[in-house]
Amino acid sequence: MTVRTLLKMGDARLLRHAQAVTAFDTPELHALITDLKDTMAAANGAGLAAPQIGVDLQVVIFGSDQPNPRYPDAPIVPRTVLINPVITALSNEEEDGWEGCLSVPGLRGVVPRWRHIRYQGFDASGAVIDREAEGFHARVVQHECDHLWGLLYPMRVRDFTRFGFTEVLFPGLDASSDDD
Ligand code: NI
Repeated sequence: MTVRTLLKMGDARLLRHAQAVTAFDTPELHALITDLKDTMAAANGAGLAAPQIGVDLQVVIFGSDQPNPRYPDAPIVPRTVLINPVITALSNEEEDGWEGCLSVPGLRGVVPRWRHIRYQGFDASGAVIDREAEGFHARVVQHECDHLWGLLYPMRVRDFTRFGFTEVLFPGLDASSDDD
């Protein structure tokens, strides 16, 4: 169990296109996933991607078994380890929503995302994951997978009047939790 250092925006390692995982169910892969889970839990995150701890592999984790206090009305996103993901938009419809990121601490912004997606990939043992997702679930997946292509959410902000410091935008909100 290791809580790893989170890289912050400006670190060139966050801008890489991550490498595909080629070997599943290995001790190294399980150790990486344990570190991701420990680091996400310690940071109270909603999701985490391997590049955020400096690991150049296509591995993300997201979801929880409990409602997210920042989105109390959002459906629960299943706790997932997703490897080598492919995302396909299932319609052209976009949806705006607030996002934060553990690699961009203290800030929030409104980001347009596909509302309805299919995502495919593998779990840690190499079993296929193939799901459809909408709304908040789809948003979380798109945010995490963007980390694998070197994209941080501020790069997708279109309306910079809705981008700023959490403590200013949302006075009273616990700014230390629930970023992804
Ligand atoms: Ni993030």
